[in-house]
Amino acid sequence: MQFSIKALSPETAKTGCVVLGVYASRELSPSAGRVDKAARGALRKALPDLPGRAGATLLLRGLPGVAAERVLLVGLGERKEFAESPFRDAVRGAAAALRELGAKDAAFYLVDLKVGSRPVAWNVRHAVLGLREAFYRFDQLKTQKKGSPPALAAVTLPVSSSPALQGALSEAIATAEGAALARTLGNLPPNICTPAYLAAEAGKIARQFKLGLQVLEKGDMEKLGMGALLAVARASHQPPKLIVLRYSGAAKGKKPRAPLLALVGKGITFDTGGISLKPAGEMDEMKYDMSGAASVLGAIHALAAMKAPVNVVGVIPACENMPGGAAAKPGDVVTTLSGQTVEILNTDAEGRLILCDALTYAARFEPEAVIDIATLTGACVIALGHVATGLFANDDKLAAGIREAADDAWDRVWQMPLWEDYQEQLRSNFADMANIGGRPGGSITAACFLARFTRKQRWAHLDIAGTAWKGGREKGSTGRPVPLLVRYALKHAGKK
Ligand code: BES
Ligand code: MN
Ligand code: ZN
Repeated sequence: MQFSIKALSPETAKTGCVVLGVYASRELSPSAGRVDKAARGALRKALPDLPGRAGATLLLRGLPGVAAERVLLVGLGERKEFAESPFRDAVRGAAAALRELGAKDAAFYLVDLKVGSRPVAWNVRHAVLGLREAFYRFDQLKTQKKGSPPALAAVTLPVSSSPALQGALSEAIATAEGAALARTLGNLPPNICTPAYLAAEAGKIARQFKLGLQVLEKGDMEKLGMGALLAVARASHQPPKLIVLRYSGAAKGKKPRAPLLALVGKGITFDTGGISLKPAGEMDEMKYDMSGAASVLGAIHALAAMKAPVNVVGVIPACENMPGGAAAKPGDVVTTLSGQTVEILNTDAEGRLILCDALTYAARFEPEAVIDIATLTGACVIALGHVATGLFANDDKLAAGIREAADDAWDRVWQMPLWEDYQEQLRSNFADMANIGGRPGGSITAACFLARFTRKQRWAHLDIAGTAWKGGREKGSTGRPVPLLVRYALKHAGKK
């Protein structure tokens, strides 16, 4: 899908489809008004057939006075309620209609709408991301690829070009690409997407963009003393990997040195629960338990592709959580890389065990801030559902920056408390701490566990258990939170 920014008048645009917004109560957007005038009111006449809700569509053909063969009207909802959400719904609705249509090219006039106080660059970014997301397919494992219509090859974003808009466009294209990569890694089955597969994927990215790559093997982890990570990996026939991928895009030799951001992603390529075995129903969904890792690879891919002036190091602990004769048992006590000991009371609370060692390891790069991303707790899904990612942080400025980036990327988060009061739930009679804190505040105690390994760092934790993938009929990975991570990394480097 090629995108270009070019001012065009909607009535004379030579394109397969002109996409126009219409508010509820039959109020035309300015571009729709122009087309209606050129078509002598034909558009207004058709409006009763367009439902008012944002994202509803109505296709018109062969309008008099209009150069394009087709005009796609897209509902925007009530004008006074028009904001980010209805805009995104309209983009999604339009994308679905364009896909159905099999349109080869389109002029996408939704980008010239006023969305709250957002600049046009915001519209450009979200139009590109929304369109790319809607045209994403994962059919590489189907032998019959029927029902996949030809992709929309060219989209014109009809606003007058400027360096700022061109920058927004390349950021959005790279972000969409990174999110698609994360989605594909998430969707790949666990017999293909193993720890070794993730390491190979990191290798591909490293070669493509000339990034630094280091993969620690089991022996290296043993030498370092990553007792928690090794305990989780122990029963699997797939060897664990600790992947370190480094992108240094900020100008070198400049003082002060550009800040380094560390992204630590949970890479459990399959979570059976281990000896604390999960129930059979929907266990297949635990292939998504490497979505944090996938989002780190996707975000670094995006930043490298757009040549962003930022420094990022990705740290990915990757392994399977399996039962077996060698598996960690409830009651086992392990020594983490930090030196602290942990009593494993539930082997299904494995994410925090691999992350604690990875977070300790990440400190050696002396990052200015570290963010971990993990499908960490079912409790977070209960608390926030599938809309908001759970945000926890030990630094208010970092949290505020992430919240702002999340709103901007419309990849939203909701901050949860990380108060010391919760720490006592992790008390253990036999070790420095237990790896579970009981059912109350389950996502908070998981974060509190991680906090014990990041006391000397500016740290935030994103629990993406509810947002990284969808279950049910629409089962599949979402690519979240790649848009948030990319936006935050740019912000963190002071780019925007
Ligand atoms: N990967 C799961 C968390 C998860 C559950 C993500 C459901 C998405 C949907 C994690 O490893 C896990 O099993 N967590 C346990 C922790 C509990 C044992 C304290 C949970 O949430 O049940
Ligand atoms: Mn688990
Ligand atoms: Zn897990």
